[in-house]
Amino acid sequence: MSPTIEIIPAGQWGEAVGGRLARFLAERPGTRLCLPTGSTPGPAYAAFAAGGGRLDRTEVFLLDEFVLPAGHPARCDEMIRRDFLDLLDHGPAALHQLDPGAESLTDECARYEALIAGSGLDLTLLGIGGNGHIGLNEPGSAPDGITRIVGLASSTVEAAARYGEGAPPQMGLTLGLAAVLASREIWLLVTGEHKAGILYEALHGPVGSDVPASFLQEHPNTIVLTDEAAAGLLG
Ligand code: F6R
Repeated sequence: MSPTIEIIPAGQWGEAVGGRLARFLAERPGTRLCLPTGSTPGPAYAAFAAGGGRLDRTEVFLLDEFVLPAGHPARCDEMIRRDFLDLLDHGPAALHQLDPGAESLTDECARYEALIAGSGLDLTLLGIGGNGHIGLNEPGSAPDGITRIVGLASSTVEAAARYGEGAPPQMGLTLGLAAVLASREIWLLVTGEHKAGILYEALHGPVGSDVPASFLQEHPNTIVLTDEAAAGLLG
């Protein structure tokens, strides 16, 4: 089944997505929720918090992490704290993340893969990179890929440089496409005219590793929550 597409006027995008998330979680206590960081979800997270949304009956898993020292402002755990968790009166029942400071990153990825494989994910929110990546599953990633250490594409390094001062990351840890695509529901969050081309390719181009987000075409329960600018080429 191809993804459902919901086009939201720009000024209402954050509120619409934040409200939808609040309703989803209120109706389903115990949700295992996987979250991205970056620029796109910020307005939705802020609106969720402003509307009194709560995560205290939700188990949160971070989708990915950059290999950067603890406390670096571009780290995903720092971004999610700044952009989301610090804004809430009722934080997550549990927060799980990949630790790039672990002694063995291979063991750390295996731990996270097993943790998620247990009961899977109920809802995964995703952003999309300008090159079609989801999580840090860069072009070339296989749909059955596991949680692993990845080298970042140059466009991802450039994008990460905007998230915080200092040298940007060159490597990351990411949930693999297998676990992402096994999520029972996926919301792909896309905003801005600069994402229009890649969103079109992801939804209408060939399904394959060149554009990892294209695998969502084959996922049975994906909703694309886009603003008008990013939906500009969808026709
Ligand atoms: C971040 C992540 C990435 C971003 C993507 C879009 O946790 O998983 O895949 O979602 O790079 O980033 P923004 O939203 O900053 O354009």
